[in-house]
Amino acid sequence: MAMLEMDDVSKHYGRLRVTDAVSFSVSAGEALGIIGPNGAGKTTIFNLIAGTVAPDSGRIVFDGVDVSALPARARCHRGIGRSFQIPHPFAGMSTYENVLVGAAFGRRRPERDSAEKAIEVLELTGLRRKANVLAGQLTLLERKRLEMARALASGPKLLLLDEIAGGLTEPECQELVAAIAEVRKAGVSIIWIEHVVHALLAVVDRIAVIDFGRKIAEGEPHAVMASREVAEIYMGVETTHD
Ligand SMILES: Nc1ncnc2c1ncn2[C@@H]1O[C@H](COP(=O)(O)OP(=O)(O)OP(=O)(O)O)[C@@H](O)[C@H]1O
Ligand SMILES: [Mg+2]
Repeated sequence: MAMLEMDDVSKHYGRLRVTDAVSFSVSAGEALGIIGPNGAGKTTIFNLIAGTVAPDSGRIVFDGVDVSALPARARCHRGIGRSFQIPHPFAGMSTYENVLVGAAFGRRRPERDSAEKAIEVLELTGLRRKANVLAGQLTLLERKRLEMARALASGPKLLLLDEIAGGLTEPECQELVAAIAEVRKAGVSIIWIEHVVHALLAVVDRIAVIDFGRKIAEGEPHAVMASREVAEIYMGVETTHD
């Protein structure tokens, strides 16, 4: 059964169709990559799935339930965890406390379990040594890790990652890929929006390409990367249409 189904979902702002009849599904334990140019509408898809933006039309079914009209908090409780493209942690709280909030907020669980979960997630995301540092003092890279840690702490069945590899050194990127692979092994479904394609290729089962709000290609990652659609949008290559 699909963990998530986007069914013909559209959203517009004024005259701009930011999401144009987008459909795709992600099964349990599957990882889907989303690529596309700046402003294509990728983050908006996450906003629609997580519930911070309401669709004009279409349906979003998560874990067998139509969540299209549910508020963001209810979707988080059901198991949709997200990271934000622009990190905004609680700057005056420690890294540990930030993750603890995610753990306590996501699935309702006893306080002691939340503390254990927070520590486990700090370990997984390589932030254990930063546990007592104020989030406001973390570097950008560490804040990106914290974004992932906060989302993971909520105990998601579906994890939405929005451009978390950008700006990382190659070894840091490898570490991140390994952490995401671990999350996958635990059976969590993942949708990962990413410009760092080689990181994406190391993790995902499928790639969907978004351009001007529309899904223009989807399939096996290497085949999609070699496709005419991707060449056209990234290289500005005009190929003969048949
Ligand atoms: N609340 C809003 N009101 C008006 N326009 C919006 C709003 N949110 C997004 N947009 C517009 O919708 C389009 C898609 O935005 P979105 O953030 O989804 O793109 P993106 O693919 O994530 O881009 P990037 O790669 O730069 O992160 C952009 O043109 C953006 O300016
Ligand atoms: Mg974005």
